[in-house]
Amino acid sequence: MKDTNRVMQSYGRCCASADFFDDFYASFLASSPAVREKFVKTDMTAQKQLLRAGILNLVLFARGMPDTKLQALGKSHSRSHLDIRPELYDLWIAALLKTISQHDRQLEKEDLQAWRTVLNKGIDVIKSHY
Ligand code: HEM
Repeated sequence: MKDTNRVMQSYGRCCASADFFDDFYASFLASSPAVREKFVKTDMTAQKQLLRAGILNLVLFARGMPDTKLQALGKSHSRSHLDIRPELYDLWIAALLKTISQHDRQLEKEDLQAWRTVLNKGIDVIKSHY
């Protein structure tokens, strides 16, 4: 099966799992004080909804959609705006893969590798704007 199809199906199962986004942010925030300090003033309920769409944008880009949304994310996360250092994306990916493993009950080993490939493709675009 194509990586992007694996990821779409896995993401569907994750979104259907209660607490997926809560558990992702709990894990991401726990990963470093550098992450926590970025979200001190954030409305996390709204942030969870934004991330739901943000992950979908990464998947759609890997499926061939234009990179317009990712360019915008790259600008908002760049040095002169949110100032998200490139190494923080490694923590983001690690927290997401861990949360996927906990919530996707039908996850196959190949799915995790597919997720890595798909996420990295879009994250490279975002980081290129730093
Ligand atoms: C805001 C997605 C990685 C920190 C946002 C928003 C989206 C988003 C959609 C709201 C719209 C915007 O400001 O552009 C993503 C995606 C990521 C990612 C898809 C992974 C590829 C990160 C990382 C950090 C981070 C690694 C590091 C801490 C933030 C912060 C905000 C934000 C601080 C603003 C929160 C606020 O409004 O208070 N992100 N993000 N993001 N993101 Fe990310």
